[in-house]
This record gives sequence, structure tokens and C-alpha cells, in this order.
Amino acid sequence: MAKGAMMLLVLFTVLSAVTEAQLQHGPGHSTLARRHRQSADPEAPPTHLHFYFHDTVSGASPSAVRVAGPADPSSGTFFGMVTVMDDPLTEGPEPGSAAVGRAQGLYMGADQAELGFLQTMNLVLTSGPYNGSTLAVLGRNCPLTDVREMPVVGGTGAFRFARGYAQARTHWLDFMTGDATVEYDVYVMH
Ligand SMILES: *[C@@H]1O[C@H](CO)[C@@H](O)[C@H](O)[C@H]1NC(C)=O
Repeated sequence: MAKGAMMLLVLFTVLSAVTEAQLQHGPGHSTLARRHRQSADPEAPPTHLHFYFHDTVSGASPSAVRVAGPADPSSGTFFGMVTVMDDPLTEGPEPGSAAVGRAQGLYMGADQAELGFLQTMNLVLTSGPYNGSTLAVLGRNCPLTDVREMPVVGGTGAFRFARGYAQARTHWLDFMTGDATVEYDVYVMH
């Protein structure tokens, strides 16, 4: 019994030591992370990405599909709706403009009082210096607001350790179908 208690005490002490070390130095202070941080210039301005996002819900080949309907279809807030997207991102506002990537993820009606989506997506870049890198975005998007801001919570490739934010502005919206073109400005530290 006493032996068991001693073992527990030892285990507890070891666990607290580990937690304390993590709190003091943080898990990001591995050699790899430190090397990466040292190579990045802390004074460097954030990388600015600018593109247009095309969300097509209508027609024969939509890029965004509703997989769950709102709880109350008459409410107008779309609470409970889930839409999965694989939306093209282009350089200019025209759908035929040069492709720069895809926005892959979903938006869901998450607000009972107004039109407010939870939007989570990977911005998958397919051209330019960041071709092959991705940014992970997770935030609140109220599509009827002029400027919506969503956090960039991470990234891959050139965007490892990314932190930042995206601003979305509706460029064009068809109220009949819900199809929209949205201008994005994304600012990232990485
Ligand atoms: C992006 O990278 C892929 C894979 O390396 C390559 O096949 C493709 O041609 C590149 N696209 C552009 C526009 O550079």
C-alpha cells in the first residue's frame, strides 16, 4: 500500500515537472521551432494575399453544396444549415480570371438571431510563390456585413506557424440564387 502511494507520488512529481517545463518554455520551443523563428525577420511586414472567392450554389455544377438544411427554413438566419464548398479563388473578380487556389471547407448557420456563419476552410494555393502551401481559416462570417474578419489559425508549407486574419467583402451577390463573389484580403505572419 505504502509502495503504491510512493509510486503515485513519484508519478505526480514527474508529471508536474513536465507541465512546469511546458509552461515556462512552451511546446513551441523545440530546436526546430526556434530555428524557424530565428530565420524569420520579426520586423518583416505580414504577407498580404488578395484574391476573389466564387461561391456558386446554383446551376448544374455548384462549387458549394448544402448538406443540411436550416432548422426552420422560414427564419432567414439559416441556423443549422451546413454548406460544403470547394470554391475557386481567382486573381480578379471575373470567374474566368487566373486561378490562384481553392477555398475548401464549410460554412454553417450558427447564429439564431441574425445571419451569422461559422466558416472554416483551407485556402489551398495553386499558383505563385505560395503554390502548394495552405492557410487554415476559422471564424465568424456575417455575409450581410460590409467587412467580415476571420482569424487565420495556421498553415502549411511556406505558411507553417502562420497567424493572421482574413477580411472578406462581398463584391457581387445574386439575391435570387445566393451565388456570390467575395473579395479577400489576407494578412499573415509566418
Ligand atoms: C503548382 O505546383 C504544382 C506542383 O508542383 C505544379 O504542377 C503546378 O504547375 C504549379 N502551378 C503553377 C501555376 O505554378
